Amino acid sequence: MWLWASRKTLHLTWIECGAVSADAEKRIAAEAAAELVEDGMTVGLGTGSTVAHLLPALAARGVSGIRCVATSIATEEQARGLGIPVEEFSQLQRLDIAIDGTDQVTPDGWLIKGGGGAHLREKIVAAAAERFVVIADSSKPVDSLGAPVPLELFSFGIASTLDRLGSAVTLRDAPRSPDDGVIADYGGEIGDPAELAARLEADPGVAAHGLFPPDMVSAVLVGAEGTVKSLSLS
Ligand code: 5RP
Repeated sequence: MWLWASRKTLHLTWIECGAVSADAEKRIAAEAAAELVEDGMTVGLGTGSTVAHLLPALAARGVSGIRCVATSIATEEQARGLGIPVEEFSQLQRLDIAIDGTDQVTPDGWLIKGGGGAHLREKIVAAAAERFVVIADSSKPVDSLGAPVPLELFSFGIASTLDRLGSAVTLRDAPRSPDDGVIADYGGEIGDPAELAARLEADPGVAAHGLFPPDMVSAVLVGAEGTVKSLSLS
């Protein structure tokens, strides 16, 4: 009994340490990215637990005259609560910088995003940015991408879209997106990400997928071992 209790205690301690360190890695990567924002910039704000560290760091920078757009309601609310100005993404044509988290990043710069279901807006914001800076903890770099690949599907004709996409695609138990999209996940083989991206884009029912190509990515900042490393993308 004592041995069991002791092992359990050790196990719990290990999990708690792991969680704290991943969070600390996210925070230092986010703080490094906040340093890139300067007075008067137009800024795209991503979504997720890493971006949740970016917003207070950005507020603390005290830069003036920035104009921000948010990729989710959660980010918009947190940003506004911290005094960061957020506007609708309807007037700004270009953004100076967008900063966002990722679920996976490969050595050649492919990303999988959309763990939080915000990938459609995240991709629109990233595409509009001069510089798209990705922030991550050390669990995010991978040798090659693995499923799932998040999808956002148009609700119109959803049954026919799912029929075309086949059994590799499953609906996620998640609310509709702010754009009324249905969140789903592709769980099949990825193989060449460019080919899979092209196949998904060819289906008229797919509003967005979570594969972000390397040419969209300007920099990847990874928090690891108490410091921030900039991944040099091959
Ligand atoms: C949300 C995303 C997030 O950026 C991604 O899931 C990473 O999240 P986190 O920073 O919480 O690890 O793409 O749609």
